[in-house]
Amino acid sequence: MDTFAFIIHPIDPKRDVSRKFPLLGWALSEPLIHFFSAYFPPIYISEIEGITSRATGKQIKGWLVACPYTATRMMQLPEQTVYRKIIQTGHLAEKLGAKILGLGAFTSVVGDAGVTIARHLDVPVTSGDAYTVSIALQALRRAAAQMGIFMREASAAVVGATGAIGRACAELLACEVAELTLIGRRRDALDVLGESLQDGSNTARVRVSTEIADLHQAQLIVTVTSALQVVLQPEHLRPGSVICDVSRPRDVSTRVADLREDVLVIDGGMVDVPGQVDFHFDFGLPRGKTYACMAETMALALEGRFEDYTLGREFGRGRVEEITSIAEKHGFRLSGLRSFERLITPERIAWVRGKAGIRD
Ligand SMILES: NC(=O)c1ccc[n+]([C@@H]2O[C@H](COP(=O)([O-])OP(=O)(O)OC[C@H]3O[C@@H](n4cnc5c(N)ncnc54)[C@H](OP(=O)(O)O)[C@@H]3O)[C@@H](O)[C@H]2O)c1
Repeated sequence: MDTFAFIIHPIDPKRDVSRKFPLLGWALSEPLIHFFSAYFPPIYISEIEGITSRATGKQIKGWLVACPYTATRMMQLPEQTVYRKIIQTGHLAEKLGAKILGLGAFTSVVGDAGVTIARHLDVPVTSGDAYTVSIALQALRRAAAQMGIFMREASAAVVGATGAIGRACAELLACEVAELTLIGRRRDALDVLGESLQDGSNTARVRVSTEIADLHQAQLIVTVTSALQVVLQPEHLRPGSVICDVSRPRDVSTRVADLREDVLVIDGGMVDVPGQVDFHFDFGLPRGKTYACMAETMALALEGRFEDYTLGREFGRGRVEEITSIAEKHGFRLSGLRSFERLITPERIAWVRGKAGIRD
């Protein structure tokens, strides 16, 4: 049977450590978890079974393995130290027999987004970022339609636009919307990206900004930074806007849920897995669903594409289109829209539209 493995790691320290080690999660404070995470070895989490291609009936088996570092620790420790631990976790996946390895959350954010890690492993590696882009934009389009926003006429923004996922989202949105604002921290990198998107074949007028306050014009926002703290606050958002939050940890403050009933925040990246998948581990999503980055690894295993796939920060539109068609062929689908982990009902959409003064 073809196989895969996927690396996870703690993002919300107490909650995520408790999922595997309830006693440790209960007993240790958050600072102690950050501290001790640097001294733990890679951890076997569980076997994944039941994934079945809708196209071919092929079944695959996988494993969840954990790099113990918390997201905060990954950003504090020297890059080489973090690489070493992720590579050790990759070796654990190799010993289990994985034929392809996916990098979850910050394991693909650190350093050069998977390139060095792949170079030090025999098993092929993918970051999962290409399918994450695809699913985030599918979710954004669906939410826009429900809110009565026409993509062709819309003003959109990408926060974290110079990152791996942000750049590809910007590239794709540039030919779908009327205006596109690229928001980031590095002016030079934004200028280069902005110029590359000022292409006659794109529909959008593109501008760049280092000011989060410039979001107030945007009707559609994809936010995908690697920030450890929230970056989007209630005062940044335009009434009636849709915000797709792909980041883990989240970019959008929970204050937005409390204070802004006139905007629609959607969780980016959740996918229905074909077959009767059992993860034998609760990583926080409803049964049968996973993150798009993990789904990319699964789809490549179903397709028998055992090669380094999405790596680095400039993978481009071709990769996104290819993985979308592979994943759709095998039966992966965008899951129902969620906001702060709760399903968005038609009543919720009607409520938000009402609060934003959008008429039917
Ligand atoms: N939902 C899913 O399925 C899924 C899948 C994969 C990844 N993710 C999440 O997506 C996020 C981004 O991943 P990535 O691979 O695109 O990372 P990346 O390539 O490192 O890009 C992150 C971007 O965020 C910017 N940034 C960092 N801190 C910031 C801050 N405080 N304010 C504004 N911008 C900031 C960075 O700017 P500089 O260039 O200035 O540093 C960079 O442009 C992470 O949270 C990751 O966990 C989610």
